[in-house]
Amino acid sequence: MAKIIAFYNNKGGVAKTTTATNVAGVLSLQHKKVLLIDGDPQGHTSLTFGVNADNLQTTLGAYLSSHWTAKQASDYFINVNDYLDVVPSNQSLSDFIISVSAEETKFRNKYLKNFIDPIKNDYDYIIFDMAPAVDIILENIVEIVDDLIVVAVPETYAVKNAETTLKITDDKHVTVRSIVPTKTQLNTNTHKFMLNNLKEVAEAHNIKMTDTYIPNLIAFSEAVSIYELPLALVKDSRYKKTQKYCQNLVKELGY
Ligand SMILES: Nc1ncnc2c1ncn2[C@@H]1O[C@H](COP(=O)(O)OP(=O)(O)O)[C@@H](O)[C@H]1O
Ligand SMILES: [Mg+2]
Repeated sequence: MAKIIAFYNNKGGVAKTTTATNVAGVLSLQHKKVLLIDGDPQGHTSLTFGVNADNLQTTLGAYLSSHWTAKQASDYFINVNDYLDVVPSNQSLSDFIISVSAEETKFRNKYLKNFIDPIKNDYDYIIFDMAPAVDIILENIVEIVDDLIVVAVPETYAVKNAETTLKITDDKHVTVRSIVPTKTQLNTNTHKFMLNNLKEVAEAHNIKMTDTYIPNLIAFSEAVSIYELPLALVKDSRYKKTQKYCQNLVKELGY
């Protein structure tokens, strides 16, 4: 039975997609079967693997709008390797959200559950890369998620949003597994100071912050731009040291 993980923060640009795709990559290298689902209409999850979803018909929004299950859609998943499949998203996910907004909450928050239920035994992990939004997709995630992971950059705006995010998750009675600091620059006093603030925010909500910090390194965007892969999956020995951060994170999270 798959464990369901979602990477979330209601702020953009904090490395939700980078972290979700790299965690999925590491797990696939460990021969865990992973389904990585793009929960953001911006479509960056599949773009990380070189697939621009803008003109695709076979996306999450289309599946949810047509009441398709993941079982029915599985022939159209993007097969990255033997262990990693990706469900892309595009603008049709926003169209879906608008189209169901008038439905009663108890109906409109079950779409993702209905989508993944039939394939829960086919995967070890189902990972959602989420949008920086408080929307119907978040409502749906709350219904199914085992581990919600909040990623945050140790800067004033992002720490404030981490706090807002934890208020949202408290309100929705979702347990946050951990806060993961990303894009850290520990050679700066600002980041050291703000990491402390981030830790205090976590503790105020009884949430752990991981000891693994993902440092701010160009290798993460380089991997996507040059290799069309998350860093964790690039076969280039120059990246070995940086890849270790992703492996350590997966280990610390206990996956
Ligand atoms: N550890 C990192 N070091 C440097 N740049 C990073 C790191 N993680 C992410 N980035 C870059 O930061 C930007 C935002 O990351 P992204 O994963 O798209 O965030 P989100 O999904 O939260 O909007 C991207 O340009 C990405 O390449
Ligand atoms: Mg993203």
